[in-house]
Amino acid sequence: MKAVLLRGYGGVDQLDYTDVPTPEPGEGQVLIRVISSSINPVDYKLREGALKQMMPLDLPAILGRDAAGEVASIGKGVSRLKPGDQVLGLVHASYADFLVADENVFARIPDGLDADEAGILPLVVLTGAQLVENGVQPRAGETVLVTGAAGSVGRTAAFVLKQHGARVIAGVRQTQLADAKSSVTADSVVAIDTAEGIESLPELDAVADTIDGPTAAKLVSKLKKSARFASVLGKPDAVVNAGIEARPVWAQPDAVRLAQLAHDYRDGKLKIPIARSYRLSEIREAQAFAEKGADGKVAIIP
Ligand SMILES: NC(=O)c1ccc[n+]([C@@H]2O[C@H](COP(=O)([O-])OP(=O)(O)OC[C@H]3O[C@@H](n4cnc5c(N)ncnc54)[C@H](OP(=O)(O)O)[C@@H]3O)[C@@H](O)[C@H]2O)c1
Repeated sequence: MKAVLLRGYGGVDQLDYTDVPTPEPGEGQVLIRVISSSINPVDYKLREGALKQMMPLDLPAILGRDAAGEVASIGKGVSRLKPGDQVLGLVHASYADFLVADENVFARIPDGLDADEAGILPLVVLTGAQLVENGVQPRAGETVLVTGAAGSVGRTAAFVLKQHGARVIAGVRQTQLADAKSSVTADSVVAIDTAEGIESLPELDAVADTIDGPTAAKLVSKLKKSARFASVLGKPDAVVNAGIEARPVWAQPDAVRLAQLAHDYRDGKLKIPIARSYRLSEIREAQAFAEKGADGKVAIIP
């Protein structure tokens, strides 16, 4: 099969579209023919070696966390899925024609959602939902700021917060204000990359953070003493030092929640824009495009 091997830490020239053996499903696993996948920031952070300490790679490695595809064959003990089923899931090594993963990570692709498109969803929608449901744990009526709300994880977090009855403020860049007002599920949209935007924020019960950096420090004065600062980027020092509860969240597979969010996306309730699609053989161009800030998902079609 064809796959993309990361040969070493570095630039996109370390990504090599090449032939590798097709994997075989072990006990409880399924072999998936990948129909679509996508690029996530973690892919290029891993490629560059920025996560070497936390997530060391056994090189050469196949990157890729998202997959939508068709079950090609099943291993011993697999009972829920059968060959021909169309599924999506949070996986590893999806920059490939085929991958194997535990059957439990997969949800069925809802009728009416194209498998070519479903591969943009797993990591960002599960992360956004878990940031809210495991991290923020909102109570109805609470005021919650989502940072990076124009991004894919942020859009999902804003949508899920509304499902839980929170009052949602979408924190975006000034350049994203107009688009975010029409496409992000929120009660208000604020430019949090300006001093006036930060100043205009009300007192916050919680933050669902997808950007960290200097913004976290600027938000401290807006947080209630009892606030929760949930982040997909760890625990910001400024928040911890201010005595605010920091709750780091790391995405985990969850087939049930993924199925629900895939339905919401199919129904047009959860909107995640796709900026561009590339073939797997164009992975270098695709990662370079995503890394520059694509304003939407970059889909990959083998
Ligand atoms: N913990 C986990 O398990 C987990 C899982 C998935 C993702 N993540 C992390 O979550 C982050 C977001 O992922 P994503 O897929 O949603 O990326 P994304 O689609 O690129 O979203 C990030 C958004 O934040 C915006 N942004 C950056 N700095 C900002 C600022 N100062 N003020 C306002 N907006 C700002 C970006 O705008 P520009 O594009 O204009 O910069 C972009 O719209 C990434 O760092 C990723 O690695 C963590």
